[in-house]
Amino acid sequence: MKLNLKIWRQKNNKSKGMIHDYVLDGVEEDMSFLEMLDYLNNKLLNEGKEPVAFDHDCREGICGSCSLFINGVAHGPEKGTTTCQLHMRKFKDGETVYVEPFRAKAFPVIKDLIVDRSSFDRIQQAGAYISVNTSGNTQDANSIPIPKQNADEAFNAATCIGCGACVASCKNSSAMLFTSAKVSQFSLLPQGQVERESRVLNMVNQMDLEGFGACTNTGACEAQCPKGISVKNIARMNREYIMANVKK
Ligand code: FES
Repeated sequence: MKLNLKIWRQKNNKSKGMIHDYVLDGVEEDMSFLEMLDYLNNKLLNEGKEPVAFDHDCREGICGSCSLFINGVAHGPEKGTTTCQLHMRKFKDGETVYVEPFRAKAFPVIKDLIVDRSSFDRIQQAGAYISVNTSGNTQDANSIPIPKQNADEAFNAATCIGCGACVASCKNSSAMLFTSAKVSQFSLLPQGQVERESRVLNMVNQMDLEGFGACTNTGACEAQCPKGISVKNIARMNREYIMANVKK
């Protein structure tokens, strides 16, 4: 198939970017979206032009690196799918496809389609860990009883891959879905109780310091999350935050 690609090119964080047009023929429907970009880059290199910079690592929907806005939708048109797992059969011959980086103040563009998402790392470092005494007789995690519902909800929250689609799709660039998934994952389990209050306070504080916006409950984050993380986690984080402040 033949595609009219409109791709955001930006030299670095200081320069202004703009959309560049590329006509790409010979795209196969079994290619993944990233393979289509590889194919484009091979063509550009053969023509002596600079390839398009884009982020990727696992290409299996696990690492969350492939942060692309495709036709105005984070990760493109297929629900519950990361960009690396999206296939070209979802597009039509002759279609015009816009490819842009995730846009948020807290995700500055590094180059072309690559954004700096280290703000997410700093939120995690502020509290997404547990304290365990590993000297002596540490209790086997499998011997700690956990209610099935809590285990399931903690697991679902833990499936967040930190891709940033929630931020990119939110009109406020809010990171509430991401942060709440990390808070929930620990607050629901016995292992996460030691830092339960300090965790939510520190992570929310870091989220605000990074410049993410507030949540106004539009639900866009849940709708475009490739892992289907529920906004119920945001409600849980708000409860955790209020309780931690009351205890403080
Ligand atoms: S490259 Fe790892 S999730 Fe897409």
